Amino acid sequence: MQIMLKSDRNTAVHIYPLYKDQKFMYPIRDEIRNTGRSAWFRSRSVEDKDIFVVGLGERNKLGLEAIRRAGGLSARSIQKEGFSEASLVRVIDDQESCTEVCVSDWLQAWIEGWLLGLYGFHKYRTFTQSPKEVLLRIHPEDWPEMTDLELRQVIKVAEIRAAGTMLARDMVNETPDYLHPGRMVEWVVDHFKDTPVKITVYSGEQLKERQMNGLLKVGAGSVHPPAMIELHYEGDASLPLISLVGKGITFDMGGMNVKSGKDISDARMDMGGAAAVAGAMDILVSQQAKVNVVALIAVAENVPDAHAMLPSSIVSFPNGITVQAANTDAEGRLVLADSLIHAAALGAVEAVDIATLTGNVGQALGLGIAGIWGDATMTQCLVSVGERNGERLWPMPLMDEYESELHSDYADLSNIGSSSLAGAITAALFIRRFVKEPMKWVHIDMAGTVQYKGDAGYSASGATGYGARLLADYVMTKKNNKI
Ligand code: BES
Ligand code: ZN
Ligand code: ZN
Repeated sequence: MQIMLKSDRNTAVHIYPLYKDQKFMYPIRDEIRNTGRSAWFRSRSVEDKDIFVVGLGERNKLGLEAIRRAGGLSARSIQKEGFSEASLVRVIDDQESCTEVCVSDWLQAWIEGWLLGLYGFHKYRTFTQSPKEVLLRIHPEDWPEMTDLELRQVIKVAEIRAAGTMLARDMVNETPDYLHPGRMVEWVVDHFKDTPVKITVYSGEQLKERQMNGLLKVGAGSVHPPAMIELHYEGDASLPLISLVGKGITFDMGGMNVKSGKDISDARMDMGGAAAVAGAMDILVSQQAKVNVVALIAVAENVPDAHAMLPSSIVSFPNGITVQAANTDAEGRLVLADSLIHAAALGAVEAVDIATLTGNVGQALGLGIAGIWGDATMTQCLVSVGERNGERLWPMPLMDEYESELHSDYADLSNIGSSSLAGAITAALFIRRFVKEPMKWVHIDMAGTVQYKGDAGYSASGATGYGARLLADYVMTKKNNKI
């Protein structure tokens, strides 16, 4: 247990989150009150406490992400100093009403940030020591607006959200020799086996029967056969079915169009979409959410071999479309095509696909925000959920004029655009061809946001766990909202 409700404040460190205008017992430089800043006030005697101050910026501009980051920064700084316990101190002053963030959301965001900040992937460390856990004490007296029961509920929800995000991080950080398609299936099945989730795994003949030829062709070069995982969670069977579709390429070596480069270890993160979907399902199930959702996780390894798909091969799909795989490195869209056809066949009214689909999305938007294409209402909802969660999204255009770029002389479509421009958009246009009306659809390209390249508020470099909270919250907006 990392979070504890306790009146006793006898811990070696006290944390003071500070707004720009908040009174403080010691003189302090103004910059320290900005977001992303912090300072230590060391005690001079053993009876005294060390004080850690973390900036929250201006009260009236406060958002949940700033709180989450302050929580993460505090956790990581205190952990780095070797402390095993700290107390969160809330100073209630007469300006309290100036923040628009409600108290329970504030605390939930702080704890979420705290737990995610302490996350580390230390499985493969031997000589280097893994950092220790830090327990956070929360004092019920500091939160008079909430009963003990409400406080416990806030803590529980934050823990669930952090756990789902950390599941996604663990999967994305894993190495491909461990996390090959077979392991991915095993991991997901194992994770959900004692829950109300109905698990179906399609592989081998079952993929052939369903003509899931994208997966079969993309996975053909690997010794680890491809699979489609279907997780159906019926928290409320009376609701219309929402589908979450994740790209799960456990290693994208490019297939026969083999990738090159000095360090291509990031290609192990090409299952970031699958991890996001698994993390979201974990959150929904743990919260016993009253939703009706099916996750489709397309799992394969895209490696070259004598059996691997050759560039220019034709892949035919059960919706009648044939695709010329001009470049085997544009494999994600082929496995998403299988998944979206399957989602419609299951009767889903909506599909959200999420994938580390193109390097181009990073060129367009950078590493801090993902691109989203498709249905305007779904987009609007996801964008606002993402703003709240710090899992940002930017609406991108489905430029009909660019569809001609997907022309093939030999098949209905090529899997790559003819120019080197707007690759993230042509990829989205490609996927759109596999969405059957009346199913509504959006596509999220998270190739840029799958990992932090340096220290961020609530994590060191490595997997972000992007998408887990986003998708879970999106599905939860449908709770009482019969379409
Ligand atoms: N998984 C990659 C996209 C990617 C690139 C993700 C970099 C994360 C970081 C995808 O399968 C891919 O290789 N896409 C190609 C498409 C191209 C061949 C049309 C790309 O983006 O270069
Ligand atoms: Zn690729
Ligand atoms: Zn890929």
